[in-house]
Amino acid sequence: MKQFNTKILGTGSYMPDKILTNYDIAKRVDTSHEWIVERTGIHERRISDLSKDENPSGMAARATLKALEAANLTPNDIDCILLSSTMADQPMPNAASMLQFKLGITNNCPALDVNAACSGWMYLLPMADAMIKTGMYKHILVVGSEMLSSFNNWDDRNTCILFGDGCGVAILGRAAENEDSKIYSTVLSSDSSKKDHLALWAGGSNMKLTHELLDSKDQWMTMNGQEIFKAAVKTMAAHAEKVVKDAELTINDVDWFIPHQANLRIIEAVGQRFNFPTEKVVINVQKYANTSSATVPVALDEWIRAGKIKRGDNILLAAFGAGLTAGAVFLKY
Ligand code: UT7
Repeated sequence: MKQFNTKILGTGSYMPDKILTNYDIAKRVDTSHEWIVERTGIHERRISDLSKDENPSGMAARATLKALEAANLTPNDIDCILLSSTMADQPMPNAASMLQFKLGITNNCPALDVNAACSGWMYLLPMADAMIKTGMYKHILVVGSEMLSSFNNWDDRNTCILFGDGCGVAILGRAAENEDSKIYSTVLSSDSSKKDHLALWAGGSNMKLTHELLDSKDQWMTMNGQEIFKAAVKTMAAHAEKVVKDAELTINDVDWFIPHQANLRIIEAVGQRFNFPTEKVVINVQKYANTSSATVPVALDEWIRAGKIKRGDNILLAAFGAGLTAGAVFLKY
């Protein structure tokens, strides 16, 4: 059977206009801009406005239009939609179907939501790669779109400082015979022994949202920050090393490293673990905070549009999140 190499044909991102600074947060909880910057590197984050349709599918529609333009494609050229969101627009129907509608796609392409928390977009890349390689689909839209402001407890200083809203997408397709774009190697994992360290207990089938539950404020996410921090550094560094080794290349062959943007200290610690030069690490956590599965595609899009990432560059992507899910992808752009 003929096999194809996977190429990123175009990327796009969309961030809500509304900026929430550390100073704004410090008006509500006992924290300070200085503390947040020192412990996380975050200065500000974006917050969705539902009256502007800035929910996961709405942000994704805007980001996709930019990616389609970059790829020189039209909405009906997309023949599969894969969308990652930790909390999609609503439980039913899925956000990928809503996105298909908002894009005006009329070809009835499949539309699938995936929830692997912050690793969701990374989880979708190997799936899309397999489907492109085998010729199953030609143009797969891979979306990470997140509205964490809807389940972030704005009265909990341990978590509320960390998160923001936004969306990043990539359209994956076939590389032409004379092009060397490809996905070299991928790794995905989940360590469920740590599943309770980052959780949202209510709102699903287990715990319905009742008046009593809302009064007890159990509808928000909870986190053991230090446990997540340690696991994130260890796993992202190990995954990054593995995919480079699996590609039979070395760290010196990596042009750009795009880690999940959760905390600047995590990013720095991962880089140090495998002696990676800091100037090749993509960082935008200071502007957007942690937008869960959107962080990596947003950073990828920004660096491509800024002309920093160029065709032929070797790019290493790594993510981790609740679950504890994690994954890394090594590719030639
Ligand atoms: O996609 C995955 C998402 N999650 C993460 O990536 C989280 C990873 N973890 C982290 O980023 C860090 O653990 C945090 C930024 C959440 C916390 O930083 P830390 O250096 O681990 O702080 P800590 O939890 O050890 O807390 C140190 C102190 C505590 O006070 P005491 O007990 O020493 O008196 C906290 O109560 O800092 C206090 N504290 C704060 N102080 C001011 C915790 N949050 C805040 C705050 N402002 N926002």
